Amino acid sequence: MPSKAQFGKWAVVKSINSGGQADVYEVIDSEELLSDDEQRLLLENAFQTLARQAQAADDNRSLAIGDLRAVIHNEVARMSSPSCALKLIKRADTQAARRFAAEVQFLQEQHHHSLIPLLDSNVEEKWFVTRRFDSSLSDVLPEYKQRGLVILQAMHPIVEAVSRLHSRGIIHRDIKPDNIFRASSGELVLGDFGIAMDLEEAEEEARLTRSSERVGSRDWMPPWAAFGRLEDVTKTFDTYTLGKVIWAMVTGNNRVPHRYGAYGDFDIVEAHGTPEEVLWLERIVKATVVERSSDGVPDGTALLRLVNEALAALTRGYQDVKVQHRRCLVCGHGRYEELVDLNATHQRNFGLEVVGQPKFKILVCSHCAHTQLFYFRDAVVPPGWS
Ligand SMILES: Nc1ncnc2c1ncn2[C@@H]1O[C@H](COP(=O)(O)OP(=O)(O)O)[C@@H](O)[C@H]1O
Ligand SMILES: [Mg+2]
Ligand SMILES: [Zn+2]
Repeated sequence: MPSKAQFGKWAVVKSINSGGQADVYEVIDSEELLSDDEQRLLLENAFQTLARQAQAADDNRSLAIGDLRAVIHNEVARMSSPSCALKLIKRADTQAARRFAAEVQFLQEQHHHSLIPLLDSNVEEKWFVTRRFDSSLSDVLPEYKQRGLVILQAMHPIVEAVSRLHSRGIIHRDIKPDNIFRASSGELVLGDFGIAMDLEEAEEEARLTRSSERVGSRDWMPPWAAFGRLEDVTKTFDTYTLGKVIWAMVTGNNRVPHRYGAYGDFDIVEAHGTPEEVLWLERIVKATVVERSSDGVPDGTALLRLVNEALAALTRGYQDVKVQHRRCLVCGHGRYEELVDLNATHQRNFGLEVVGQPKFKILVCSHCAHTQLFYFRDAVVPPGWS
């Protein structure tokens, strides 16, 4: 429990988490007074819970005052308006104070429905209050395993929020499942701006903190950032970590390697086959989780474009034209079989006066005979086939 039970109008209900930098508490707004009836009900509930606990407890053991307080606190939390989260910085040094002020400023200035909202703050006392969430993405990763469309729909607003940050010159630097919260509605929200960085202020930052700047989690940050050089903090940093989060969602595993490649269970296609959903996700992971910054996706906006393309394809019944035995688009029952190969010598022009040296690939449904014709101008394979 913190040194005091009240911060501004916020009453502490219980501790949520305690890290190296900060303690996080569940709090409620004590100004939201309850009516007499509500208070009576609340006390009755609290005492019923206590009675049950006392019965269950060992006869020789009496309930401590602390237990009593905790039960009543929890009842208050449950009865009153939704509880919130208060983050209190523990460290007293100037660097921690400066970082804290920066975090509050980021939260104050950046508004997006997928960025954690700031509800209250006190820079002097080093605390701020945000909406509280029951789980983080790391608690629920297995729920997303192999569900490409669900993953893209869930991550789209987060990528959009990062794209917005990037257009304002801000790098989050600490995107990982622990720092993405999930509301009961299923919506994801990005939090923990503790080491976010404004590129314009980065030069000054470098002078101030070169020696002891806190860095992100090594499990998630890109390999090129391992040396802690300021010039390696680019927008690709965030697209890399976003790609890794998407990868972790596909595999359902909270730890994924530093670079996409043939890694058995971590290889998306090898582990999950080639359904369209998986192919589109692999495309995004391959593009983002790379070894060198210059090979990555340059910024949030470019990544958003990739996500939008994948979403459009998946929601409009995209079929990978290279995959053999695709299901028929007309009858939904048969499979397409090749009738004329692009390289076959007997391919015809169907009486058309076509320019160059056209070639056709013809596929026919085994059930309803629906025919698909693909035209290769000058025998060049269209981009959709590669
Ligand atoms: N709004 C919140 N709702 C619920 N839990 C939270 C919230 N904010 C933080 N936490 C919990 O506290 C932990 C640390 O908070 P975070 O903002 O990530 O700070 P740190 O910089 O110490 O990582 C989170 O991983 C999460 O478990
Ligand atoms: Mg965190
Ligand atoms: Zn058919």
